[in-house]
Amino acid sequence: MLEDQPVHPMYGRYSLRDWHLVNDSVREILTAPELTKTVAQVTGADSLVLWRSKLFEKFPGDGAIDWHQEYGYFDGEEVGGHRPALYPFNPAGQWDWTMWMALTDVSEDDGVMEFVTGSQQTAYPKRMVKLTESGAYVDPRNRVRTREDLLQRAANNSLLLDIDTRRVFEGIDTDAHSVDELFGVLDKHLDSLLAVVTEPFELAPGATKTTPMKAGEYVIFTERCMHRSRASLPGAKMRLALNARYTLGDTWVYPQRATHDTFDGSNLDIRDHQCVQVHGDSFNPLNTYL
Ligand SMILES: [Fe+2]
Repeated sequence: MLEDQPVHPMYGRYSLRDWHLVNDSVREILTAPELTKTVAQVTGADSLVLWRSKLFEKFPGDGAIDWHQEYGYFDGEEVGGHRPALYPFNPAGQWDWTMWMALTDVSEDDGVMEFVTGSQQTAYPKRMVKLTESGAYVDPRNRVRTREDLLQRAANNSLLLDIDTRRVFEGIDTDAHSVDELFGVLDKHLDSLLAVVTEPFELAPGATKTTPMKAGEYVIFTERCMHRSRASLPGAKMRLALNARYTLGDTWVYPQRATHDTFDGSNLDIRDHQCVQVHGDSFNPLNTYL
């Protein structure tokens, strides 16, 4: 998948998300009774659905995914998004957990996960930065050369993977502008978007734990716990991981599907998304299930 960059059959573009919905082998791993029983045990949940998965690759020399915590709405704030993916029945409780499984051995040197012990009790301060100055932004000028290509990709949301560009050129006479001028319009639009990053914070010695793993081992955690994946050192090996997110059975998943706009906070068209029931027998009737 990483080499061939296949178009995701459900999302119509290249994506590392939710292959469990279209690939039996991925789904078998993430719904294996040995695994889901453990998720149910550690979370104490009566009912659980698998609603998201993602493949994570880290090549030698890749940087860290910086410290972050997530209170469980998954609205895409890290890429300037504002569309909650989950609407919990009881927002005062916990409703989402992440399972992170190593697909290759992960040492301290090749992108290991690291957690701040006890940090799930505290919401750390965050701040907004210009999206174009956040780590998530890749300038499309290297790949897009013509006006037609630029306009088409913006219209079908394949210009910037995580960012909705469908309305960037709304109200503009695009025929009257050169491709450079249109890129200027895009820049202006992007300059108005802000992404959320965690403010730098002090760490006492011994306050964090890393989780080196053998392939097939996994960790289950609440994303309220401050975490990051460390950088991969030059000369380290390529590491692969698969994560899965499980939410309580009564959570409403992708509530904005009730509107006409079916793009989520990370700019994927989730109109055909389905939840997978993995534990219990009480499930929100507003969701669709595989
Ligand atoms: Fe995370």
